[in-house]
Amino acid sequence: MKNTYYITTPIYYVNDLPHIGHAYTTLSCDILARFKRLDDFDVFFLTGTDEHGQKVETAANNKNVKPHDFVDEVSQNFKNLLNCMNFSTDDFIRTTEKRHIKSCHKIWNALIDNGHIYLGKYAGWYAVRDEAFFLESELIDGKAPSGAPVEWVEEPSYFFNLSKWQDELLSFYDENKDFISPISRRNEILSFVKGGLKDLSVSRTSFSWGVNVPNDDNHIMYVWLDALTNYLSACNYSEDDKKDFFSKYWPANIHMVGKDIIRFHAVYWPAFLMAAKLPLPKKIFAHGWWTNEGNKISKSLGNVINPFEIVEKYGIDQVRYFLMREVPFGNDGDFSNSQLVNRVNSDLANSYGNLFQRVVSMICKNCDEEVPLKPKNFKIEDLILINSIKDHIDDYRFLIDNQKFDQYLKNIWITISNANKYVDEQAPWSLKKSDFSRMEDVLYILLETVRQVSILLQPFMPVSSKAILDHLKIADDERDFKSLGKMYEGGINISTPLPLFPRIN
Ligand code: MSP
Repeated sequence: MKNTYYITTPIYYVNDLPHIGHAYTTLSCDILARFKRLDDFDVFFLTGTDEHGQKVETAANNKNVKPHDFVDEVSQNFKNLLNCMNFSTDDFIRTTEKRHIKSCHKIWNALIDNGHIYLGKYAGWYAVRDEAFFLESELIDGKAPSGAPVEWVEEPSYFFNLSKWQDELLSFYDENKDFISPISRRNEILSFVKGGLKDLSVSRTSFSWGVNVPNDDNHIMYVWLDALTNYLSACNYSEDDKKDFFSKYWPANIHMVGKDIIRFHAVYWPAFLMAAKLPLPKKIFAHGWWTNEGNKISKSLGNVINPFEIVEKYGIDQVRYFLMREVPFGNDGDFSNSQLVNRVNSDLANSYGNLFQRVVSMICKNCDEEVPLKPKNFKIEDLILINSIKDHIDDYRFLIDNQKFDQYLKNIWITISNANKYVDEQAPWSLKKSDFSRMEDVLYILLETVRQVSILLQPFMPVSSKAILDHLKIADDERDFKSLGKMYEGGINISTPLPLFPRIN
């Protein structure tokens, strides 16, 4: 049986249009999911939309439509993003679906049955934009730490006994050093939990757009308890006849989130799960935030980056490559059009694209459009080049398991640049007269390098790597990582390709 790999994106609030932040989180998951599939894992990749809560209710009211109609319409924008960025998700969950509401009820009942929820009264600050409660002492200049406005809330509320989970959480973090990544986020969470936890209000009564609390129609569930539960709903937590699916995929291998929502995932979520007696996810990774040409991205500044527009302008793989190569994953990054153009021109057009184009053109011109056969003997410089990928797949696995996407790409580009140097050093154009068979070997080595590079690039650049592998007539079942070591046979007909990454001026 294959190893399983369950990966989730946060579910996105539907009151906003999809922006670069959403695209970035899902992109990182898409790369992990695609890599794992190629590495023979049974992958379940989930995304979806967070459709309840005060923020969404207000957005619907402002449009004068019923929340139900509103969410039906706007969740589609997030489905459209999947096609636009070529995301390979396996399921899309909406928190207004029946399967989700059932699983919210199930976890609520488990928390009640295990004695972790009690009825009380909440009096404190609430930030609708963050959908989060704050103590007076947490406010900065009368606002939430994120800058979101707060309002005073006083209402009957059910509470989850979060304060009782401090020690258990701390020992869990201690025993599972990788649970929160990167390390800076882990430290942030450790000091937050060490500072003491307050019981958490988990229901609201002052509005109605949410999942009803079982046996108390005056309350709806706090939107974060509702939202986090999506990770269980999608693997059939509440479907008694589909228990196999649940036990197959749960616990998740990784919940990918942005740094702003780490506390919900690394503190509240594990506490809820422990209290419900469910296994905990293996890892929470919090990535950084993008700015736009040096400025914070915000609707009021009007500088929100629309993923549909940049994909249209630069191309899917170009955008995917830039986002993953530009910034070490986990750090904040700045989106700059000129930097994107530089990367496309230098790394994609001049290096990778040019290598492919150049080698195939030479084969077409000098070898009668037929790829030379696998050489009988290799020179040391040939082996250095073709072994630099296939002998290092474990390094790439390590980089993927540690979300070091930029390093993965940097390593591949070392091979690409060595391949371009090899072309210059071996000078196949002069071998043509002096040693035709060596020229054939050199061209073969180069194409074999392109094949390996393109196999490894599939998770990042699915469109162009597919085009290259198609061009080399590599069968669909010979594109996984097991096929890296099985060298290209050669001997096939090939034609001159069109440039894959046209230079941008
Ligand atoms: N609905 C909650 C998540 C619930 S998960 C159980 C939510 N939704 S969100 O739509 O506001 O945000 C989703 C993701 O987008 C977050 O991971 C957030 O970090 C990310 N980003 C929002 N703006 C961003 C940037 N400017 N840059 C990078 N990512 C950013 O939170």
